[in-house]
Amino acid sequence: MTDPLFSPFRLGPLTLANRIVCLPMYLAYPDPDHEVNSLVLDYYAEMADSGAGMVVVENATIEPRGLTNPRSLLASEDRFMPGLARLAQAIKARGVPAVLQLHHGGRHAKRADCIAPSAVETWGVTPKVMDQPTSTASSPPLRPGRGGRKRRDSTLWSCTAAWAIS
Ligand SMILES: Cc1cc2nc3c(=O)[nH]c(=O)nc-3n(C[C@H](O)[C@H](O)[C@H](O)COP(=O)(O)O)c2cc1C
Repeated sequence: MTDPLFSPFRLGPLTLANRIVCLPMYLAYPDPDHEVNSLVLDYYAEMADSGAGMVVVENATIEPRGLTNPRSLLASEDRFMPGLARLAQAIKARGVPAVLQLHHGGRHAKRADCIAPSAVETWGVTPKVMDQPTSTASSPPLRPGRGGRKRRDSTLWSCTAAWAIS
């Protein structure tokens, strides 16, 4: 009998070769500019070659105020999209679905300007309450696109399409 661990698995639109998943793990490999670099690409290519059925890339923070670590990936602005798309391609080129974990540290961001759902003091800082839609200064808010889809621009969507679930 085939061991279920090593048998294929349907996950929504994806078919995983087995039930082993490389979990997201913050590595502090990105440079302080929060970009995908060669160390990040090499590590995840190696994880994709490991035989795992799916690779989930460590937390990529959706805006600078949500950063919990100085060397986390950022996915907050268009300039980060080409690197993130290259990362997806490096994994998928090895026949493995690639998933990106999106992250916001909220009140755990350890910054004076942190935001959170409630004004609960943490690490000596009381976060600003997120009672309104927010956007970073450098990234405009999402706006409705054709067909009712939300879209910002083609750079974001070409990056999104590079990942397994788009
Ligand atoms: C160094 C380190 C970094 C981690 N980074 C993340 C992360 O970015 N996102 C996440 O959801 N979990 C993260 N985790 C949690 C792991 O994905 C995993 O859930 C946890 O280690 C439990 O699995 P284990 O019992 O096999 O170690 C991290 C764990 C470690 C040890």
